[in-house]
Amino acid sequence: MYDKGTVLTGLAIFLVLALSAVGYNMIAGDNNKPEPEKPKGYTSCVLEKSEMAKSHMQLLNQWRDEVIRDGKREMVPAGDLMVEKSLQNGCLHCHTSKVKFCDRCHEYASVYPYCWDCHIAPVEPAAGKEAH
Ligand code: HEC
Ligand code: HEC
Ligand code: HEC
Repeated sequence: MYDKGTVLTGLAIFLVLALSAVGYNMIAGDNNKPEPEKPKGYTSCVLEKSEMAKSHMQLLNQWRDEVIRDGKREMVPAGDLMVEKSLQNGCLHCHTSKVKFCDRCHEYASVYPYCWDCHIAPVEPAAGKEAH
């Protein structure tokens, strides 16, 4: 036989827990959002920041094709500067830490680009010992 009191208590506890989870998420938001390191001493990327966040992969492919297939190695503007169309010498010239920049977003998004099989990533301090 059912014990009405127990059922209602259970239901009440369930509701409190469910609602507090919703409330918690509404207040706390997404705390795990990645925080890619801002480049020091630079104010502009090679495209608008929002554009870069969305489509840096396409830009990298385009650069690669232009450099390798067409031999077009001319410099490109990044704000007032001219930079090399290059992963290592361009992107990483400003974004000096692959770990604190590229990886922070990629781990969050679970993407693991294979570029570093060949391209040389900067030497970084051991994990957990971020230099200041
Ligand atoms: C001249 C320096 C410079 C170069 C070269 C450069 N960037 Fe940037 N990049 C910046 C700056 C400055 C920002 C804006 C950072 C900010 O305001 O948080 C930025 C922003 C970004 C963002 C958006 C980050 C975010 O928080 O949304 C991505 C992604 C990015 N860059 C990738 C690249 C890639 C890939 C390359 C090479 C194709 C590259 N950058 C080349 C300086 C540079
Ligand atoms: C602001 C966050 C952010 C930063 C910073 C960032 N990426 Fe990404 N990157 C992403 C996301 C998200 C994807 C997956 C996008 C998709 O699948 O549409 C991605 C995908 C890529 C891909 C394609 C991988 C694949 O398997 O399709 C390459 C290549 C890449 N990023 C290179 C870089 C490099 C190099 C840097 C550092 C210079 C960098 N990214 C920094 C967010 C970021
Ligand atoms: C199998 C090895 C290999 C892999 C993997 C690879 N590359 Fe490359 N990449 C090369 C070689 C070799 C060059 C030619 C270097 C040169 O002539 O300057 C090159 C050139 C480039 C260039 C233009 C020149 C430069 O210095 O950066 C870009 C941009 C580039 N690759 C992007 C990428 C990206 C993005 C990925 C990952 C999605 C990737 N590559 C994966 C071997 C590779």
